[in-house]
Amino acid sequence: MLTEAVIKEKLADLEEQYVEHVIQRFGEWEVWAKASQRIADREEVREDEIPQVFHAEVKMMKVILEMENLGTFDWNNPKLRKIFGEIVKEPFYLFYGGMITAIALRLADIVGGKTFLEIGAGKANLTNIMLQKMRENNKVFPLVVTDAQPVILDNIKGLKDNYPQANLETLLWDIVDTPSDELRSKVVSPTLLYERYTLNYATLKAFENIAQVADVLVLGDWFNHTGKLYAYDEVFKRIGAQPLFFSDVKPLLDRFFPNYYIFDQRAIDAIKLPNITLLIAWK
Ligand SMILES: C[S@@+](CC[C@H](N)C(=O)[O-])C[C@H]1O[C@@H](n2cnc3c(N)ncnc32)[C@H](O)[C@@H]1O
Repeated sequence: MLTEAVIKEKLADLEEQYVEHVIQRFGEWEVWAKASQRIADREEVREDEIPQVFHAEVKMMKVILEMENLGTFDWNNPKLRKIFGEIVKEPFYLFYGGMITAIALRLADIVGGKTFLEIGAGKANLTNIMLQKMRENNKVFPLVVTDAQPVILDNIKGLKDNYPQANLETLLWDIVDTPSDELRSKVVSPTLLYERYTLNYATLKAFENIAQVADVLVLGDWFNHTGKLYAYDEVFKRIGAQPLFFSDVKPLLDRFFPNYYIFDQRAIDAIKLPNITLLIAWK
């Protein structure tokens, strides 16, 4: 049975690694938050005024504002595409993906998980990490990968060649809608749902839909627990990333997944980070 005490005991090593990493990586988040206000105010801000770890975000913010100055937003803007390419290769992005998938695998062992469900898989970077982790651990859990966009079908097709042993299914699912009969037929309980940066692009209504097919959640959505937003939050809204407030998420957790554990609480306390970067929730 999954309990907070079991998580603390069985995931202690992962928690230690993750908390250390977050403290190191985001310790100076306030410097970036203040600088982001100056950038938003169109002041000149040199990169060397901001810790190197935030430079990809700085570049992204500057490109979004440049496009805004021109009055047109273009997803295919080469500078924006280049920055997305840089972010997915960043050490934190890879580490974060490794951590989310390692936690999901550990929890699956604890609860006797039968299916993994990934939502908002996009370019399948997180899926790739999960498949790598399963291979390293000699595990072949059924994995159902979904996204609202049909491009997921091609992205997963590409991955299948690299992981011929994987038990992998791909389906389209807009998590704002209730799960289809086809999706329901593919998931066997206990189902572990893991994801990163997806709920921010959907709406909180997604909770009641995912509760219909998932028993345990590993969420990487940066829920804001202070209620205070910074200039970067406001600017990233323009690329569709809506900040989600934990005060809005909590009632939904209480209703659908009444047990939860804030995996990075010690890091939040140590550096006063305004976001919950990793949350485990279960029925
Ligand atoms: C920032 S990407 C994250 C990709 C992936 N989770 C990762 O971490 O590498 C957000 C993804 O969420 C998907 N998405 C956005 N709204 C969605 C919705 N309502 N239902 C399902 N997927 C959605 C997008 O299509 C996109 O692939």
